[in-house]
Amino acid sequence: MRSKISSTIVIFSFLSVIIFMFYVFLKSYNHESYIIHPITILFFVIVTILLFILESINNLIFRIKLKFLSQEEKKKILEKNEGNYLYSLYKFIFHDPKEINKGVQKIDHGFDGILEMDNELPLWWIHLFYITIVFSAIYFFSYLLIDFSNPYKEYDRSYKKQLREIEIFEKNTPQASLDKTFFKKTLINDGRVLFNENCATCHQSDGSGNIGPNLTDIYWINRVEKDLYKNIFSIIWNGSEKNPSMRPFGKSGEIKGNDIEKISSYVYSINRNNKKPLKHKEPQGKKILDWNNV
Ligand code: HEC
Repeated sequence: MRSKISSTIVIFSFLSVIIFMFYVFLKSYNHESYIIHPITILFFVIVTILLFILESINNLIFRIKLKFLSQEEKKKILEKNEGNYLYSLYKFIFHDPKEINKGVQKIDHGFDGILEMDNELPLWWIHLFYITIVFSAIYFFSYLLIDFSNPYKEYDRSYKKQLREIEIFEKNTPQASLDKTFFKKTLINDGRVLFNENCATCHQSDGSGNIGPNLTDIYWINRVEKDLYKNIFSIIWNGSEKNPSMRPFGKSGEIKGNDIEKISSYVYSINRNNKKPLKHKEPQGKKILDWNNV
């Protein structure tokens, strides 16, 4: 007859496995919140009660079986089960090494003269081993049959979640408009990326001009605002009245106000920071040194 494990440990481990399986199942179908749903909690309570009943039946059987054993065997079993699980754990960790080797069976290999000790494995070690088996089985089947712990599905889910969050963020953040926008140094780097995506085909990635004019010089075809930065924002928003190639990116909804603010900050910075205009395209329009005076 094997030794008995404390009922609290049994119930606790069974319950954890069940809760873990619940979690696996619910998570793979995106219903994580149901773990704390009243009906789920009721279910856990019922399972706990059933486990208690099962354990008391087990205890009863254990005691009845003891009755049929000889005095000698009974003494041995009771000695083994002395104290609770934690106590036996304590006994194992702080045992007297001489004590533990006393009743150990020795296996004689004979041919090489090595004597092997057939020590009994500690309970906690065996239990840990069982738990890993259970967990690996759960993971194996859930990976095969449902979405849980499947990296591709997880990636897909978090990708979609992120898109949704971005959408909400965009909806709730006010977009920049011509009357409120101003040059922001911190936006230059983001602006460079957006400029390369949307504008470089016509203006060259460094802004030195191609189909569109050179944006790094002090010559301007369009002057619709009294401020260089606002002038840039306005042209990107409204497009050029003179040439439809420069289309109204903001008005048409192609680029959002906040992104236009980034691009404008970038264009403003390359126009101001290039002491000498980058040579690619010849100057077009009028030379403007002082933006305040018309
Ligand atoms: C399809 C080509 C094309 C694209 C794409 C384009 N532009 Fe232009 N852009 C032009 C042309 C052509 C002009 C000259 C308009 C005119 O003659 O009035 C211009 C003019 C401008 C001007 C005013 C220059 C001046 O001297 O008045 C600015 C500023 C500007 N573009 C910025 C941008 C930015 C920023 C983007 C990207 C969001 C962009 N452009 C995308 C073709 C383009």
